[in-house]
Amino acid sequence: MKTQPEKIIIFDTTLRDGEQCPGATLNIDEKLAIAKQLARLGVDVIEAGFAFASPGDFEAVNKIAQIVGTENGPVICSLARAIQEDIKAAAQAIEPAAKKRIHTFIATSDIHLKYKLRKSRQEVLAIAEEMVAYAKSFTDDIEFSPEDAGRSDPEFLYEVLEKVIAAGATTVNIPDTVGYTTPTEFGALIKGIKENVPNIDQAIISVHGHNDLGLAVANFLEAVKNGARQLECTINGIGERAGNAALEELVMALHVRRQYFNPFLGRPAESEEPLTNIDTKQIYRTSRMVSNLTGMLVQPNKAIVGANAFAHESGIHQDGVLKNKLTYEIMDAQLIGLTENQIVLGKHSGRNAFRTRLRELGYEPTETELNKAFVRFKEVADKKKEITDWDLEAIVNDEIQQA
Ligand code: KIV
Ligand code: ZN
Repeated sequence: MKTQPEKIIIFDTTLRDGEQCPGATLNIDEKLAIAKQLARLGVDVIEAGFAFASPGDFEAVNKIAQIVGTENGPVICSLARAIQEDIKAAAQAIEPAAKKRIHTFIATSDIHLKYKLRKSRQEVLAIAEEMVAYAKSFTDDIEFSPEDAGRSDPEFLYEVLEKVIAAGATTVNIPDTVGYTTPTEFGALIKGIKENVPNIDQAIISVHGHNDLGLAVANFLEAVKNGARQLECTINGIGERAGNAALEELVMALHVRRQYFNPFLGRPAESEEPLTNIDTKQIYRTSRMVSNLTGMLVQPNKAIVGANAFAHESGIHQDGVLKNKLTYEIMDAQLIGLTENQIVLGKHSGRNAFRTRLRELGYEPTETELNKAFVRFKEVADKKKEITDWDLEAIVNDEIQQA
């Protein structure tokens, strides 16, 4: 029996699935900078990439494993198709990490079997079992995903999961690959797995989902209620097509509504014990960093990290908030690392205010970089009354290398 975690495991796939979204390609230094910030944020697992995909991907996973995969750091994971060469590359790339995971997958839906894999169910079952056993020869920590689980025949899914757990999978991840399921259906799928896979207690149930219908976060919360204990997500919800479940939304939903979720984790409703290991104060910084480096803008009305998420426009709302914040705010902006009084930067601002704002935006300049950027800031400030975050980001892009 695998000990079930006391907290929900946060598995971040910004650097793998997140990077799969059009236009979000990151270089190795940028991936490393994000991985370091994810470690500061407190994610439990970083899926650092897909090592077999390209030499650049291999190098990025390998560097992250060396530098971020310390004893007290997160588990470092690489994705691999259920193919020997992929698994071998993944194993080599994650080798330097203190805690390492191979995440292997093969599709299980009839649509994928017929049109993509051109294989029978029996063939897929045999490959899944064999490749999990092969991956297990490199590390104990093996995750298996039946791709397109959301559209797979549940009876076949149960059979595959039973076999891969017997072969050594310690986490079984249930992907809603095309973002098709609804929260009630997804919750029922997890419940069905718990009830029908005889050895399910030997693994952790994880969920992975895309946002094609805007339901990924809602699906995951329903999955938690039915026994999922690992959530695969990305910063700002970036990812293939409409993206993945957004880490910041999941974490804050579990935090703000912890009294609702506590009983599903077997805790007393009133428990104040956090449900995840995430340091919520790092959320805003991480969001800004990912947006800056990927070039993927965050929509202003995006939950938690959008520019308007804590802004009150209507007179009635402003009046209410001035009287008591609880009237229209369900969480304090400081919880995600936003400062109460945002400093307005202009030509009279000093180095300290400048550095503080850069930190809030997710940048950690060296002294030399700060000096250069500060000179440039003063030049721009001479021409403009107020310096916006966009101005700062332009300055940063010119003067600061992400460490
Ligand atoms: O969406 C998906 O099914 C995936 C798998 C590789 C987990 O990204
Ligand atoms: Zn995915």
